[in-house]
Amino acid sequence: MGAALQDKVAVVTGGASGIGQATAVRFAQEGADIVVADLQPGEETVGLVKDAGRRAISVPADTTQESDCDAMVAAGVSEFGHVDIGIAAAGIATRGGRSNVQTTQVQPDANHVVNLDTEVFQRVIDVNVLGVMMTDRALARQMLAQGTGGSIVNIASSAAKIPLAGASPYCVSKAGVWMLTKVMGLELAARGVRVNAVGPGYTATPMVDGIEDNKPAYDFAMSITPMHRLGTPAEIAAACLFLAGEESSFFTGQMLHPAGGQFTD
Ligand SMILES: NC(=O)c1ccc[n+]([C@@H]2O[C@H](COP(=O)([O-])OP(=O)(O)OC[C@H]3O[C@@H](n4cnc5c(N)ncnc54)[C@H](O)[C@@H]3O)[C@@H](O)[C@H]2O)c1
Repeated sequence: MGAALQDKVAVVTGGASGIGQATAVRFAQEGADIVVADLQPGEETVGLVKDAGRRAISVPADTTQESDCDAMVAAGVSEFGHVDIGIAAAGIATRGGRSNVQTTQVQPDANHVVNLDTEVFQRVIDVNVLGVMMTDRALARQMLAQGTGGSIVNIASSAAKIPLAGASPYCVSKAGVWMLTKVMGLELAARGVRVNAVGPGYTATPMVDGIEDNKPAYDFAMSITPMHRLGTPAEIAAACLFLAGEESSFFTGQMLHPAGGQFTD
């Protein structure tokens, strides 16, 4: 049996770090070439993809900019001739990007809505919802133009379904990603482009750096994670691989939860 993604081309936003990087590497191991699109330099991921024997380019991109979203897809076409898969993993937990566990330790209600600046809420929505919409739109337009179908996977979160005090913009944004996935899945279902989501639980990436040293935050996270551990980026990448490839050919508009048992129905 051949590799699951042999000679496919995948655009991975957020591909410089964490879940996006792990997904890019796993896809390369399965035969795909990769466009690493990120605010941060993507050279490390490009190196890892090349180590796995595939080609990759790094495209600096701010997914809150429509022109950057269009350009990263165009770069994939220009370099590799086509784009078949998109992973929308670029995301932030707070305005600064990382989880707010440290702030919460100092002042438990610092990030409650009553204390929240409008700009903080706006920034998270811009990156996590608007950015994903513009990423998906650019990908879908290219896939439709090619006429060869495609698979888009949005990285939502278990926070799409679990309300977390102090994380209103994040929870709202991820619920938005989940609904966007369902709407786009429907819109494109008869046109050969599938749109699904992965909703990870707590996963050991730079986004949650320091959570293990913050006892109240870590204890809370583990209390809603029956496996009592963080997930690994590789475990999330495995779910992305399933949804990106032909093994999931009858799935669209769905969200899978690699989340250590957070959801049991
Ligand atoms: N780590 C977790 O516990 C967890 C859980 C559920 C969902 N997620 C989601 O997984 C996705 C990946 O996060 P991660 O945990 O790998 O964190 P991460 O911080 O390691 O990676 C996020 C990447 O997105 C990039 N990025 C942020 N804003 C961007 C923008 N405007 N344009 C382009 N790139 C941008 C960052 O530079 C970074 O490389 C995010 O959508 C996150 O919300 C993470």
